[in-house]
Amino acid sequence: MRHHTSPNLYMPVNTAAFTPEYYPPAPEVLDWSVIFADGKPPSILDIGCGRGAFLLEYAANNPADNILGIEVRKHAADWINTVVSGENIENATALWYSVINGLPFIRSQSINSVFYFFPDPWIKKKHHKRRAFTQNFLREIYRVLKPGGLLYLMTDVREVDEYQKETIAEFGGFSMENVISWNLPATDQERFCLRKNIPFVRTLCRKNDDN
Ligand SMILES: C[S@@+](CC[C@H](N)C(=O)[O-])C[C@H]1O[C@@H](n2cnc3c(N)ncnc32)[C@H](O)[C@@H]1O
Repeated sequence: MRHHTSPNLYMPVNTAAFTPEYYPPAPEVLDWSVIFADGKPPSILDIGCGRGAFLLEYAANNPADNILGIEVRKHAADWINTVVSGENIENATALWYSVINGLPFIRSQSINSVFYFFPDPWIKKKHHKRRAFTQNFLREIYRVLKPGGLLYLMTDVREVDEYQKETIAEFGGFSMENVISWNLPATDQERFCLRKNIPFVRTLCRKNDDN
């Protein structure tokens, strides 16, 4: 899951001199009436949803929620959408999109929970600029979350955990706490870590209402 082809995918579309054909579309608006069976917008986001084990199980467990997965790798998004249509899942979809372009198609204060699980770590300093988790990203997460909405984080990379916590502290719009467990389906990467006894950290961030 940590195999990547082009560094351009992690840069905003408007910073490139031209848009390569492998770059995912960057829509400003999406028509939810043709995306989810109930025609409503999403209430849940899974950013960097990978092959979607979490997304699909969450959708099955929470039929009243529409869950939007966001994934920069087309084949992973396509795989999820093949399962979604094959299994007639009415409340889940994967969007082939690079989240570095923000969330312009999500209405402010419309989201209950954002899941951001096991992001690519980009450990080398020269690769830090590929990390999507920035002040701009947090501004967007803060904007789309309802008051008291939740941002769930998991990572098995200590440096990423520290970086994300520092970024959140600098932003200031969230309370955060480490949690040992939560009642959520396991992600693909989480299952891998559990199988291999690789430790990982769960952090729950709650949107403050006073920012
Ligand atoms: C290590 S995988 C984790 C997948 C899943 N969340 C899990 O826990 O199993 C990280 C995922 O984030 C996706 N990703 C990385 N950068 C992204 C970006 N800018 N926009 C959307 N997805 C991105 C990767 O393609 C990959 O599928």
